[in-house]
Amino acid sequence: MEDLKIPRHIAIIMDGNGRWARQRGMPRIMGHYKGSEVAEEIVKFCANLGVEYLTLFAFSTENWRRPREEVELLFDLLKNYLTQKKEELIREGVRLRFIGRRDRIGKDLKNLMEKLEEETSKDYRITVILAIDYGGRDDIIRAVRKAVHQRMESIDEDTFSRLLDLGEIPDPDLMIRTAGERRISNFLLWNLAYTELYFTEVCWPDFTTEELMRALEDFSKRKRKFGRVLDE
Ligand code: FPP
Repeated sequence: MEDLKIPRHIAIIMDGNGRWARQRGMPRIMGHYKGSEVAEEIVKFCANLGVEYLTLFAFSTENWRRPREEVELLFDLLKNYLTQKKEELIREGVRLRFIGRRDRIGKDLKNLMEKLEEETSKDYRITVILAIDYGGRDDIIRAVRKAVHQRMESIDEDTFSRLLDLGEIPDPDLMIRTAGERRISNFLLWNLAYTELYFTEVCWPDFTTEELMRALEDFSKRKRKFGRVLDE
């Protein structure tokens, strides 16, 4: 096999939590709970591999359409997880960043997110970006509003992408989506322009470090051209 290439930035749509739980006769939230444990394992594994950025899609701007109970339980899970794991995240060298809207989530979670961004910003090995109430179109619209508000006169791709939620963070090299769906589903629309896409049938709660290695082996074989012609 060719040498394993480690992407600088991996983005993941952690899909299939609900299906995984229902297939086992459990409430959907149990799939999200197991999903949070898998996310933790993948974060640690990526940090050890030398991945610099890992972006995880935890809640989309469309997910508000789910039953109210599931939305509430999902936010409780996120809040409890982040509160309980703070020290461990710092110990593991995880810097947390959040992308998405902050005007529709509860005040408690918003304050917690700001505190965590501040407290995890030193001595880190990996930056984990959690997308919460995030939508790619919404991200672009908010960036346009910022540009208008700042009365920016000349806008090019560089200056515009800095106004997006990922800001200075480089575009993902690899995007993984689990559970068989082959869509972007309004994830990082602008930033995924040249990203390699990898889809697997495995539901997120069953995703393992072996699965991730399979995605990385596949990624390593891809020839990234960015619109150029590569020499034969
Ligand atoms: C998609 O599965 C998953 C979500 C909408 C939520 C993802 C959230 C987690 C894994 C918890 C995250 C927690 C941390 C700390 C990262 P789905 O419910 O759409 O599954 P389905 O398509 O089978 O219904």
